[in-house]
Amino acid sequence: MKIGTALTGKATRALLLGSGELGKELTISLQRYGVEVIAVDRYQNAPAHHVAHRSYVIDMTDTEAVKKLIALEKPNFIIPEIEAIATQALAEIEAEGHCTVVPNARAIQLTMNREGIRTLAAQQLKIPTSTYAFAQSFEELQAAVENGIGYPCFIKPTMSSSGKGQSMVKSAGQLQQAWEYAKTSGRVDTGKVIVEARIDFDFEITLLTVRALNESGAVQTYFCAPIGHVQEDGDYRESWQPQAMSVASLKLSQDIAFKVTNEIGGLGLFGVELFIKGDNVWFSEVSPRPHDTGMVTMTTQNQNEFELHARAILGLPVNTGLQKAGASAVILGGINAKGVVYEGLAQALAVPDSEVRLFGKPEAFVKRRMGVALANAESVDEARHKAVKAASLVMVKAAL
Ligand SMILES: Nc1ncnc2c1ncn2[C@@H]1O[C@H](COP(=O)(O)OP(=O)(O)OP(=O)(O)O)[C@@H](O)[C@H]1O
Ligand SMILES: [Mg+2]
Repeated sequence: MKIGTALTGKATRALLLGSGELGKELTISLQRYGVEVIAVDRYQNAPAHHVAHRSYVIDMTDTEAVKKLIALEKPNFIIPEIEAIATQALAEIEAEGHCTVVPNARAIQLTMNREGIRTLAAQQLKIPTSTYAFAQSFEELQAAVENGIGYPCFIKPTMSSSGKGQSMVKSAGQLQQAWEYAKTSGRVDTGKVIVEARIDFDFEITLLTVRALNESGAVQTYFCAPIGHVQEDGDYRESWQPQAMSVASLKLSQDIAFKVTNEIGGLGLFGVELFIKGDNVWFSEVSPRPHDTGMVTMTTQNQNEFELHARAILGLPVNTGLQKAGASAVILGGINAKGVVYEGLAQALAVPDSEVRLFGKPEAFVKRRMGVALANAESVDEARHKAVKAASLVMVKAAL
């Protein structure tokens, strides 16, 4: 692997589609190896725009707009950071053979729509998942629930993330509302929703899985220690590493993660979401990129998930080892306001072994993630306690 000098004609260029907080950290990791990074988002001054060499604002679901930008910037790597992308453009660019879509165009296509990845995992790979069905009308949904899936169940748009349009339904009376919500709140209306039986898990994990080149230049799969997390309204609030789990359930989790990522292929880091009960493991979904719950690795691993993704993409060796137990807790906006100010940082950082990252998003919303607090401790419980405390001390306020 040769890396050119950034900002010259021979630069090694990476085009980031999506420039949120995960993209910002990835940009920094890539730049540490001298890569020229171009950050793209749908709005101006997104987190990665603050640090990238160049930035653009385009509609990333617009095939022509994506193709035009790729023709202009001629990147060596296209790295999707979000799910809502014109995947047709990526498939065409990949077929031309001049640049690498990370991990590959098919992965982006498969994971952007729940139907693609669910069908692949459950039917093709025969991996345990929740019982599920797809429905294109309320009647179909009703029939699927009544003829097997039962209550409680989850109704989700086939294309959505961060819990958007998703609800848990406990009884028949709530079904219509869940249908309407899923139909109107998805990112793209595919005309379909997925309904899944609820898995009554003990806990859920993200198993960060890396496909990288080993010393002999062959693709090898590496696993990070499991990350436990808490979700509220389908969005993550706290994560910690390592999540304690039985030897059998960890082995099964790694087997599942291997099967899924091996089928997807390419080089990079993946966030494999799994539900665990006793020694049983169910596959939920996978991100072919760093995962929000994986931000905890910024304080627990020598090579965090962004560094691992950057190294894997560039064909460099990786080390997924855990250094110390730690936790992350998100800092939500709490208000709807533009150009907010942050107070209480000194108090937050007075929590021993803590760190805070503020993403610099131009606008706060009540439930928008504006930052994250990280903490280390001897035990995961203590680290969680510290991270939550540090996060709670950061105040997001309207600028006067
Ligand atoms: N079948 C299920 N059984 C139990 N819990 C579930 C099920 N489906 C979803 N959940 C809960 O809802 C959370 C979010 O679901 P899911 O990951 O499918 O949504 P998402 O919109 O893709 O969220 P994100 O983008 O944040 O990963 C899960 O992490 C889990 O806590
Ligand atoms: Mg998820």
